[in-house]
Amino acid sequence: MDGDFDMNDKLIIFDTTLRDGEQSPGASMTRDEKVRIAKALERLKVDVIEAGFPAASVGDFEAVGAVAKIIKDSIVCGLARALDKDIDKAGEALKFAQRSRIHTFIATSPIHMQMKLQMQPDEVIEHAVRAVKRARQFTDDVEFSPEDAGRSEEDFLCRILEAVIKAGATTLNIPDTVGYSLPQQFGATIANLMQRIPNADKAIFSVHCHNDLGLAVANSLAAVMNGARQVECTINGLGERAGNASLEEVVMAIRTRKDVFQCQTTLDTREIMTCSRLVSSITGFPVQPNKAIVGANAFAHEAGIHQDGVLKNRETYEIMRAEDVGWAANRMVLGKHSGRNAFKSRVAELGSEFVSEEELNDAFFRFKQLADKKHEIFDEDLQAIISEIGIELEEEHTKLIALKVCSETGEVPYATVTLRLDGKEVTGRASGSGAVDASLKAIESVVKTNATLELYSVNNITNGTDAQGEVTVRLEKAGRIVNGSGADTDIVIASAKAYIHAVNKLQIPNQRRHPQKGDV
Ligand code: KIV
Ligand code: ZN
Repeated sequence: MDGDFDMNDKLIIFDTTLRDGEQSPGASMTRDEKVRIAKALERLKVDVIEAGFPAASVGDFEAVGAVAKIIKDSIVCGLARALDKDIDKAGEALKFAQRSRIHTFIATSPIHMQMKLQMQPDEVIEHAVRAVKRARQFTDDVEFSPEDAGRSEEDFLCRILEAVIKAGATTLNIPDTVGYSLPQQFGATIANLMQRIPNADKAIFSVHCHNDLGLAVANSLAAVMNGARQVECTINGLGERAGNASLEEVVMAIRTRKDVFQCQTTLDTREIMTCSRLVSSITGFPVQPNKAIVGANAFAHEAGIHQDGVLKNRETYEIMRAEDVGWAANRMVLGKHSGRNAFKSRVAELGSEFVSEEELNDAFFRFKQLADKKHEIFDEDLQAIISEIGIELEEEHTKLIALKVCSETGEVPYATVTLRLDGKEVTGRASGSGAVDASLKAIESVVKTNATLELYSVNNITNGTDAQGEVTVRLEKAGRIVNGSGADTDIVIASAKAYIHAVNKLQIPNQRRHPQKGDV
């Protein structure tokens, strides 16, 4: 390990949920969804928010612009290939940001340079230097990534990184793009690069690890032990293929094991759960119960022997406090008699605000409806209401008007559904193997998407049989994947809402394309 860096340094947390996370099939987000997540990330106090890839699509350009306008405390970053047109788009999208960063990249592994870029190594260096210089015309904060660094030759990495620092790069991000590295080896690479590159002290070293071998967090932490002072990560570990390093795991490992790392993040970890739930409900990617930090069982002490130990002294089995990551969950916050002001201010405390009186009225009406069905309303229930309002603000071609389901022992269940399709009410009927199956078939008989149902999952938002169920539905049509989510105390209705949400997403023209691989 190199002794030249200060062990008490700050560790910069660079969140790429809105960019790399979004590249997960089915996780694409609308502009408004990105803005909501960005606001939650700002409350979590992440240092850098990578909001998207402005050259990828008009939608992404606009989303980065919207995030740049609204975020005040975090740096807002846009990704760009090492191409003039990408850099210019990123610069333009970020022009209203309080503090902006352009993140440019080009592949450096032999296989990527030969097969994908069809460029000689010297040409790759020329492109990288040109891109960094161009990005510096827009901002002083420029990050460079040698894509597939995990499989690149160290000598070549030293050459290209030295050149981009001279050109003005202020952060050097070392990505393990295909999740191939092992912790000890990856840590040694970071230490070697920092030692060998003569002007290494002029830049911050960062890492960006993918989780194909389940090692993204371990590799990131090994890099931190060896001098990296920025980690790129995502909420819930969302990201391409097996995902990216999970933000909550990296941050809590650094905090819990400060005896080893001695560097610190400045995040407000109590906001972790809110971010986790928000990302999960917007993308429709549920969090597995045994997921570290944010999984439903992460702080549950089921076994009697554990419970006994925890009751006597919580540190016998707990290495972190649930409340430090925002697990004050299942605290009853509002009830049937709570008024509009109490509702509005709790929603504000959760970090959301209503854009109009009409939106507040709509949300409050839903809250009252829910409070009639369920006595205790928790923060999680409020989040679900806020998410639904967000969903309905998007283009909504199809809306659920009524659903009737008949299900009894020994009989084939059937459902009758009425939808509003582009302003016209249409009714459909179908039978199915159960109430949910019949309902989704009845909806499909009206909307006729012919999409394939790739995933259907139900999670309870809070505890108890009166809890809301949150349903996720994933549809695939002609290679396009969309996720829909819906919540209700009745899981058949939640399922119908989730299906219709996904159908609405399919009806929005697909402008999104992520040209990062293969176009340069
Ligand atoms: O995985 C990767 O290499 C990337 C780069 C664009 C940093 O996402
Ligand atoms: Zn990546």
